Amino acid sequence: MVHSILTSGSTYWPFKKYFEIYNRSIKDPEGFWSEEARKLEWFKTWDKVLDWNPPYANWFVGGELNASYLCVDRHVKTWRRSKVAIYWEGEPGDTRVLSYSTLYREVNKFASVLLNLGIKKGDRVALYLPMIPELPIAMLACARIGATHTVIFSGFSAQALADRVNDTGARLLVTADAGFRRGKPLALKRIADEALEMAPSVEKMLVVRRANIPVSMKPGRDAWLHEMMEKASLFVNPDPMDSSHPLYILYTSGTTGKPKGIVHGTGGYLTFNHSAYRWVFDIKEESIYWCTADVGWVTGHSSIVYAPLMHGAAIVLYEGAPDYPGIDRWWDIIEEYGVTIFYTSPTAIRMLMRFGEEPIEKHDLSSLELLGSVGEPINPEAWTWYYKHIGKEKCPVVDTWWQTETGGIMISPAPAIECPPLKPGSATFPLPGILADVVDEKGETMPPEERGLLVIKAPWPGMFLGVYGDPKRYVESYWSKFPGIYYTGDYAIRDKDGYYWILGRADEVLKIAGHRIGTAEIEDAVVAHPAVAEAGVVSIPDPVKGEAIVIFAILKEGCSPSPDLKAELKALIRKSIGPVASPEEIHFVSKLPKTRSGKIMRRILKAVATSASIGDLTTLEDESSVEEVKKIYEELKKEV
Ligand code: WTA
Repeated sequence: MVHSILTSGSTYWPFKKYFEIYNRSIKDPEGFWSEEARKLEWFKTWDKVLDWNPPYANWFVGGELNASYLCVDRHVKTWRRSKVAIYWEGEPGDTRVLSYSTLYREVNKFASVLLNLGIKKGDRVALYLPMIPELPIAMLACARIGATHTVIFSGFSAQALADRVNDTGARLLVTADAGFRRGKPLALKRIADEALEMAPSVEKMLVVRRANIPVSMKPGRDAWLHEMMEKASLFVNPDPMDSSHPLYILYTSGTTGKPKGIVHGTGGYLTFNHSAYRWVFDIKEESIYWCTADVGWVTGHSSIVYAPLMHGAAIVLYEGAPDYPGIDRWWDIIEEYGVTIFYTSPTAIRMLMRFGEEPIEKHDLSSLELLGSVGEPINPEAWTWYYKHIGKEKCPVVDTWWQTETGGIMISPAPAIECPPLKPGSATFPLPGILADVVDEKGETMPPEERGLLVIKAPWPGMFLGVYGDPKRYVESYWSKFPGIYYTGDYAIRDKDGYYWILGRADEVLKIAGHRIGTAEIEDAVVAHPAVAEAGVVSIPDPVKGEAIVIFAILKEGCSPSPDLKAELKALIRKSIGPVASPEEIHFVSKLPKTRSGKIMRRILKAVATSASIGDLTTLEDESSVEEVKKIYEELKKEV
């Protein structure tokens, strides 16, 4: 894979292949995407490539396919049946290697278990599992019979699990006795039991034995997976699914307290990811591909399960923490399995960077061919360290920008199609078929080097089908700011060479260690405490996690601030959301700056938290009184 880095003075025109493909894709999107879709295997070809009725897109209308067929059956018909599909490593060091034919057998049996439990096409199945092979197996088994899976990150609390399960109305929950994290079993079954007290739609719970810890099984409701697998058939037909059949629902944070169930379809989603992973990662059947994300996030769906398995690559799946038992655990895994493509987050890179090069030098990382980054902006310093010390200056680093909603990578270098040179910290250019732009509040294109809002001006096959059970929210959150245009919620600039630099969120969503958390979700959790009257949440920059959470809380009459209260609030947040939302700072204050309509002005809180000036307040005129806001700002500064 040829790549170079753009240094000042060097020119990059023309990079014919990328621009040729890109221009063709924009000129004739339907012709372009139908060519891409033909690279999959369809049971029935579509009648129409795209039905675009803004803001609803229907891709490959009338086409039929099956995600599980594409990820396993297709390979077992070839020599790949005997090649590795999954290299799994448990945190304690236990390992499992699954060939495509083993994966095929397990997926079929699991699908049979689902059918035996009465699960049918169209049902929702919730998966609350650690990073063990049963997680991708369960996803593919659901896809095989047309049940829509919803994976819930195993770091979420019982409450967060119950909220998501309730929103989908799932009939089955799949969990494990426990998963290992930093040497200790995390008792998932126990958390699931607590969640199911609050989730009446769930009729059955299937439990994977992973850690061999004692659990209580509720008669009539709970079943062990290994017992059910013994009675399972070895073949279940991969049912043809309509191209727009919902493959999965995945919850993500937005600007209100309630997470959104992002729904992805089948044909468009798979086509888009199949193409994007070829362009960006040059993924092939011989690749040994490791994405360190948790399957609980969208990165895990597209980058661990669907895209690499469609390509017949071997994936590495690792259960535990990056620094356990030693700081070189990841480098050890790369060496052990001969990983060729490594994909991680800027937070992880910054965390590992702090330990210097010594832990790396102990390992042979020469198998690596390409490195990727995702989830948050990567600072040029971290990019350069990654390039130099992990990739030894021979692997391109692809900074890939995308979202749960986009389903797959949208803006990224694409070394496999001769993209322009890389610039450390830039996601470079949109992938073929992606009509991106940076605009002002009115939707006008911004001049180079000026910050604006990132938008996508034409439908793409990976786009989500909607917000589960909430069509209004789909339209309002994404398509109302600029009608017919997808609003990403991110700030970006395009430099004078046309390269995109993603600057972070423009809305009330935070990115903590790459995890999306809404300020409103945290505020809701905090005000649930009997001593708290009101709360406002903002973030401050964090050298490792990118952003860290700061809470401003007003206490109720008669309640006084104390370290114990802070500890209680922290515990409450862990309980209602999970440890990912733990705050860095909590400030008890007497007032919060608000607009006339009562909306908290987070910009002012942020200025207080970061000791910045509040800048120009004239634009606030119709929101609140400038004098009043200034007064509150000064008071808060003293209180904090
Ligand atoms: C941020 C993760 C800068 C962005 C796949 C986006 C990024 C949000 C990048 C989506 C990147 C993701 N550079 N920012 N390369 N990738 N983001 O839904 O703010 O968990 O809107 O999807 O992550 O987060 P999500």
